[in-house]
Amino acid sequence: GSIVEFIAGLPKAELHVHLEGTLEAELKFRLAARNAVDLPYADVDAMRASYVYHDLPSFLAIFYEGSFVLHREEDFRDLVYAYLEKVAGQNVVYAEMFFDPQQHTDRGIPFSVMIEGLTRGRIEAERDFGIRSQLIMCFVRERSAESAMAVFEMALPYKHLIVGLGLDSDEKDNPPEKFAEIFRRGREEGFRLTMHCDVDQKNTHEHIRQAIEEIGVERIDHGANLLDRPELIAMAGERGLFFTVCPYANEMMRPGERQSIARGMLDRGLRLTLNLDDPAYMEGKYINENMLMVHELAGFEREDLLTVTRNAFDAAWIDEDLRRELH
Ligand code: ADE
Ligand code: ZN
Repeated sequence: GSIVEFIAGLPKAELHVHLEGTLEAELKFRLAARNAVDLPYADVDAMRASYVYHDLPSFLAIFYEGSFVLHREEDFRDLVYAYLEKVAGQNVVYAEMFFDPQQHTDRGIPFSVMIEGLTRGRIEAERDFGIRSQLIMCFVRERSAESAMAVFEMALPYKHLIVGLGLDSDEKDNPPEKFAEIFRRGREEGFRLTMHCDVDQKNTHEHIRQAIEEIGVERIDHGANLLDRPELIAMAGERGLFFTVCPYANEMMRPGERQSIARGMLDRGLRLTLNLDDPAYMEGKYINENMLMVHELAGFEREDLLTVTRNAFDAAWIDEDLRRELH
């Protein structure tokens, strides 16, 4: 069969997707109508045409504006359900999904509304499509550590519904150590830990070192600049860290990159996984298209795609029985 058929047929796991970044234009219009939110676009094509950005801050401005249509429990349910339905159709059998509570609590949405809607969407998607999933709560890193701590405490009554903690949004001048106390408490409470270390940020190597040595993350989301430093590569190798790389996001943020990040990690034996990031804002590319991209641009062959798929199941925050069942 063709490579396209091979990719489509693989049972897959995803570990790096921002739920707010899966809000496709059609659903955004429906939710805006439901909640009487005025959108400054005539139709979905005009909305999609407005998704123009060239770096992380310009992307984030568009991404945050999009989430303003999310208000009710059913909106959060519909968001997760639509994403899981879509990826189940690409033979994804397991997904870990980021959400950013501060995007919503800051707009007056109660934590309970958000988490209950997200959880209902997960349960209904498993019932209807057989797909398993879990939630990772991310802190918005340009907000204060106090704001992150406040949302951490709101989450504690729901901690059985959240598998891990992450850190995302604008990395510049917001190093991992700013959140050291929260991640220390998070570990004590039983959360698994990951963090974004995006491409070409200020002090990027120091941020990667802090995430590994001071925070003790099990994964790094992106982490591309580690490839510049042999000592960081060695540290990641010794600790068995996993990397969640997002091919299409890298292409959007650094046109012409030609998947040298994915290729570089694979060649150095790092435990690379392939993921989506924000598909609704990245031309609607889901996992099959991301895998095809590294095949076409970086020469990932079938055995390499099997390796990254195995890595994703190995990196998943699930117990060994479920791991065996899924992979
Ligand atoms: N939030 C959503 N997408 C993100 C990304 N690619 N990097 C950092 N924060 C994000
Ligand atoms: Zn991300």
